[in-house]
Amino acid sequence: MNHTSSLLQKARQYEQEHAAQITTSQRPLFHLTPQIGWMNDTNGFCYYKGQYHLFYQYYPYDRVWGPMHWGHAVSSDLLHWQYFPAALAPDTPADQNGCFSGGATPMPDGQLLLVYTGVRPDPAGGPDLQAQCVAIGNGMDFEKQSGNPVIDAGLLPKGYSAHDFRDPKVWQENGLYHCVAVSDHPQNRGSALLFESEDGLHWQFCTVLAASNGQLGGMWECPDFFALDDTQVLVVSPMEMQPDAAGEFKAGKNTMALLGCYDPAAARFTPQAAQRLDHGLEFYAPQTTLAPDGRRILISWLESWESCDSAPRTAPWFGRMTLPRQLKVQNGRLYQNPVQELEALWQNTVCHTGAFIPNSKITLQDIRGRCIDLHVTLRLAESPACSCFVLRFAQNEQYFTQITYRAAQQRLEFDRSHSGCRRNGPHDCAVTVCPEDGALTLRLILDTDSAELFINHGQRTMSCLLDTPAQAEGITFCAEGGLWADVVMHTLG
Ligand code: FRU
Repeated sequence: MNHTSSLLQKARQYEQEHAAQITTSQRPLFHLTPQIGWMNDTNGFCYYKGQYHLFYQYYPYDRVWGPMHWGHAVSSDLLHWQYFPAALAPDTPADQNGCFSGGATPMPDGQLLLVYTGVRPDPAGGPDLQAQCVAIGNGMDFEKQSGNPVIDAGLLPKGYSAHDFRDPKVWQENGLYHCVAVSDHPQNRGSALLFESEDGLHWQFCTVLAASNGQLGGMWECPDFFALDDTQVLVVSPMEMQPDAAGEFKAGKNTMALLGCYDPAAARFTPQAAQRLDHGLEFYAPQTTLAPDGRRILISWLESWESCDSAPRTAPWFGRMTLPRQLKVQNGRLYQNPVQELEALWQNTVCHTGAFIPNSKITLQDIRGRCIDLHVTLRLAESPACSCFVLRFAQNEQYFTQITYRAAQQRLEFDRSHSGCRRNGPHDCAVTVCPEDGALTLRLILDTDSAELFINHGQRTMSCLLDTPAQAEGITFCAEGGLWADVVMHTLG
């Protein structure tokens, strides 16, 4: 059995010996962090035997990326996670250079199927080869299949790269297993490819669902493909993207949703719209699952490849996941809102309805904190003189992070330049947003050193990390021209 392999044993033993020393006060309140060491991508997010399982790209021994394992955590409410022992280690010929990202789905016989990318040396001396492998288990221990890799580059259509072929997301539907993975092609560039299988072990290539064709970045990573509210959604994380004229996409790595129609009989996906999934500074490689009540829930890595190397290693772990978000399609866009389970963490509630925000900075009584769920409604139609609104948070004499809304430009800016963050790369970001029914709504969720902003009930989101000391918990408001606003804050605990 692979789960007794010495590499996996070593990782599990290391977890047992070292992770228990990490106290809950060294972790965020409700954002998942690795049991120990390094975490990137969301992997194998699924609902299995009454609990959510979330795996992640994992290197237990250091707070930097290393030979990839799969870490594992389970939860019944998506907010309180229990660590399970590491699930996979790079311990077979098919994955000796890493167990890269992948998905999980329950099998009809009650077992859990993991499909992941095995990375192995190229006997021809080229870059490592990537191909899809399978491990089956009981939700804790998984046995790698002797036939691995089960989706090798031989199944790829002509021209697709065996060196960039990864990140299978797997699901079961109509008695078949389906798997979407990404590969690169000299002309098509990043592409999402669909495979099918009757038993999860023997796979066939089905179709190319979508491709960049040089328009939507270079190689793509971490695909997901699902139906939602009569729309078909393909989520990918494209690399080397060029910013577009409308300002939807930024240069470099992005996370994108293509919304369109899918004809399963012809296996044809027709994308009709492309949107960026998050306009913040840290957000990559999300994955979704279907909750038992039909909700489609997304969790993403709350980090950035561009700047994580220069991020401080102050905690005995590195990397975290976003708050789980419920998805919906509205007005042709994918909306994201915090899962309603968050409301169970609400403690004290403070309301300032019909507050007048003047030209000069004010505080509102009891509005402060770093573990909060803050709702601010800017009543712009009732405040025609208001040209600019500024919300500062995580603030003390030395530090602040600022959200600015410029009414004439309909532009919302997020700026953490003064947050104490010293990592390389940008510290500000912006998005165009219009008021709806005369108001703009902002929901800001802080979990000490992360900030997730949900704009207009989830129409746009911005996710960012803060390196600000936890004592900086001040919040101030000001509005050029004056603004009527409703402010409601729940402390989270
Ligand atoms: C995306 C990614 C994946 C790969 C994994 C390796 O963040 O590059 O494409 O499977 O990370 O850790």
